Amino acid sequence: MEKEGKNALEVGKEKKEKDKEGAEEESRGALSRACDIRIRKEIAMADYKIKDIKLAEQGKRQLEWAEMHMPTLMMVKKELEASKPLKGVKIAMMLHITKETGVLVRTMRSAGADISLVAGNPLSTQDDIAAALAAEGIRVYAWKGQDGSAYYENMKTALKLKPDIIMDDGADMHAMVHQDYPDLKVIGGTEETTTGIVRLKAMEEEKVLRYPVMAVNNAYTKYLFDNRYGSGQSGLDGIIRATNIMVSGKVGVVAGYGWVGRGIAMRLHGLGARIIVTEVNPFKALEAVMDGFEVKKMDEAAPEGDIFVTATGDINVITYEHMLKMKDGAILANIGHFDVEIDVRTLKKKIKSGRELRNQLNEYALPGGRKIYLLSDGRLVNLGAAEGHPSEVMDMSFANQALAAVHIAKNKGKLQNKVLQIPLETDERIARLKLQSMDIKIDELTKEQKEYMGQWRYGT
Ligand SMILES: NC(=O)c1ccc[n+]([C@@H]2O[C@H](COP(=O)([O-])OP(=O)(O)OC[C@H]3O[C@@H](n4cnc5c(N)ncnc54)[C@H](O)[C@@H]3O)[C@@H](O)[C@H]2O)c1
Repeated sequence: MEKEGKNALEVGKEKKEKDKEGAEEESRGALSRACDIRIRKEIAMADYKIKDIKLAEQGKRQLEWAEMHMPTLMMVKKELEASKPLKGVKIAMMLHITKETGVLVRTMRSAGADISLVAGNPLSTQDDIAAALAAEGIRVYAWKGQDGSAYYENMKTALKLKPDIIMDDGADMHAMVHQDYPDLKVIGGTEETTTGIVRLKAMEEEKVLRYPVMAVNNAYTKYLFDNRYGSGQSGLDGIIRATNIMVSGKVGVVAGYGWVGRGIAMRLHGLGARIIVTEVNPFKALEAVMDGFEVKKMDEAAPEGDIFVTATGDINVITYEHMLKMKDGAILANIGHFDVEIDVRTLKKKIKSGRELRNQLNEYALPGGRKIYLLSDGRLVNLGAAEGHPSEVMDMSFANQALAAVHIAKNKGKLQNKVLQIPLETDERIARLKLQSMDIKIDELTKEQKEYMGQWRYGT
């Protein structure tokens, strides 16, 4: 009896659970069908060229995670959502398509902008993010691993839509507008990175710059944090994901001791590497020495290094001749904007038998039998082998991008065709919002202090 009774109870419980599971399954199915229909409806309205739209749900979860870690940009978004200062403004964005860029795209759209998005680099696109944005109706033309011709074709597709504002990272799109689209009327642009600023300044000097460009890279809330701490962490993340090597005890050679190089040197050192810096600028070289690092010429550093990281924005900083001097097992990575810092072209011409040993890690056997290992094909390792900078740091960079676009739209026709600083009050506001999001309060100058700091009469 007892057994029977127990069985009856168990049977009842099992049935209830089965019914519940069935109902849950049905509701999950309905939810996913509804989701599919919603995605199909949304994408029917947008044009896009991406890897796989089915990655959209995964991408949306990533965007949710990024939004949680980008409080400054979310505060800016809330404000722009209400005032819609970019209503009807067409923006062509050429940025690394990461989850953080996704949050910027959503912000720009909330501000009323009409956006098309292409990849800032052939290797840096996160396909799930591209899918999520396409599913939200954004025109996205990008996929990870696209070749050089697709990179330029996609850019042309975005330019054919006649954008008012160009938001660029590295100035390839700005350069294309100036070279191939003489009649395109652009009201202004923004530029995300050091290399792009260098190119745009050269255009300004040649007096060929046709529209004002806001130098997002040069805002304090960008380069002091993104270039240094962002690159320091994400660069190491890329190197470790691609190799899984122990950094401690290794010799790290960092080429360039600018903002990015400093971040890389600091984090490599923090993980226990001995650092050699190579530089061409005497002040930066001195700074590296005073920070406690060795400074050498690349010729001398080449035989000593285990991990090489270029961060200069310059060309052929590591040449094939340097590679011939390297130790067996040396690892080469670049974090500068373009894939020209390590002379990969000559390496590939000379050594045809390179092979992919791990994801983003290629092995090249040098004459004499020594092997060297190239990460992400010499493209920026933090975006090729990892996910780019953490959201917390892109939070400030992209708050600058958003407010720079608004500044251009609001001042249409009033700005000079130059590379322009982000207004100091905007930069400072972003820093204050970031501090606020971290619940950090700082002192304010008293009236007496303000007067004291603005006078010259009181001394000793
Ligand atoms: N991967 C990323 O996420 C990321 C982020 C920010 C910047 N960047 C890029 O990184 C690069 C460096 O940016 P930065 O802000 O540090 O610039 P920076 O101007 O502050 O520093 C570059 C340094 O390289 C040095 N240098 C130039 N040629 C050299 C050579 N031949 N050998 C040794 N040193 C040399 C310069 O003297 C300078 O100190 C740029 O290409 C920039 O666009 C990439």
